[in-house]
Amino acid sequence: MPTASPLLRPYRDGALVLPNRVAMAPMTRGRADDTTGVPHPLTSLYYAQRASAGLIVTEGIWPVRVGKSGPGIPGLATAEQVEGWRAVATAVHAAGGRVFAQLWHAGRVSHPSVVGEPTVAASAVRARGRIYIEGGWAETTTPRELTTEELPRLAEDYATAARNAIEAGFDGVEIHGANGYLLHGFLADNTNLRTDRYADRIRFPLEVTEAVVAAVGADRVGYRISPGNPENDLVEANWPVVYRDLLHEFTRLGLAYVHLVATEDRVFPELRPHWPGPLIGNVHQGPPSSQAAGERLLEDGLVDVVAFGRLFIGNPDLPSRFATGAPLVHVSEKHHYGSALEGYVDFPAVTTTRSPSPVPA
Ligand SMILES: Cc1cc2nc3c(=O)[nH]c(=O)nc-3n(C[C@H](O)[C@H](O)[C@H](O)COP(=O)(O)O)c2cc1C
Repeated sequence: MPTASPLLRPYRDGALVLPNRVAMAPMTRGRADDTTGVPHPLTSLYYAQRASAGLIVTEGIWPVRVGKSGPGIPGLATAEQVEGWRAVATAVHAAGGRVFAQLWHAGRVSHPSVVGEPTVAASAVRARGRIYIEGGWAETTTPRELTTEELPRLAEDYATAARNAIEAGFDGVEIHGANGYLLHGFLADNTNLRTDRYADRIRFPLEVTEAVVAAVGADRVGYRISPGNPENDLVEANWPVVYRDLLHEFTRLGLAYVHLVATEDRVFPELRPHWPGPLIGNVHQGPPSSQAAGERLLEDGLVDVVAFGRLFIGNPDLPSRFATGAPLVHVSEKHHYGSALEGYVDFPAVTTTRSPSPVPA
């Protein structure tokens, strides 16, 4: 008989009331209509199947089209997109779940062929690497530096997307400030070369957060960070100091939660003391993060809730599998992204014996 896992204990702090501590991490799946940015009709089912998560954070969703990272990524800017997401939020709630929409501006980690204009970023610094576009991979391009005047307007675009999310029925929004995209680029050493007031690394991420908080209320706003993560060609030598300052501001604002992605173990002990509110932790260190690693983080008091990404793709009923020790399905990377429906809603819960067989890894 497996012992009770700390991941299955309820969590309650402020507005965050969760039946367990197993969150679904945000995962882009690339299945939205590429022209309209409306989520796929099966996206409601995909998330409803995973509604037993303590909290679902959706895939990244662009607040403005220039923030779209690649093919099939949905938006939250048009009335049609809001309607598409309303179906998703309604389906998750009907299945008993809670769901925050992740607001994601990719910044320079996109391509003019995706957004129809030059990409934009804190500074005109090109990312090393390649970008996935329709039909294959392309060389990155040098982004246009956002002007001092347009940044407050962009913060308002985030606020509008957040209002749209609440209008669609989401429980809140998570601002994507991690993994080398636009907001992360303002924090990093090699991508913020500005000389105006936004040379202050935390200023723009903070202005976005303040605008979103003013629009929908702090108890409906989470923020995702990945300190020191070099993904998408970022350098952050001084991350303990930069993120300490950011977390102190988030404490002042009273955000619903901080979502901390750790690409190295010391991130949790280093930053936990600087954020007294709900902390969701996600281990992002190569292989899919494991139940045992999540349990250790809870037992050590380093986080309050643990987010799992890839395990949720093949195991829609992940909390119950953690509870019972049922075998876990590992999904091939070829099913992560793309317009194919195979590998999207065809992974059954353990109890649903008559669903189609899972796609083999
Ligand atoms: C297919 C895929 C898509 C992802 N998309 C996003 C995303 O849209 N936003 C985000 O913040 N992180 C994204 N991530 C990162 C995950 O949220 C998570 O940090 C990472 O997968 C590590 O957790 P895991 O080991 O439990 O999968 C993505 C990861 C994968 C595998």
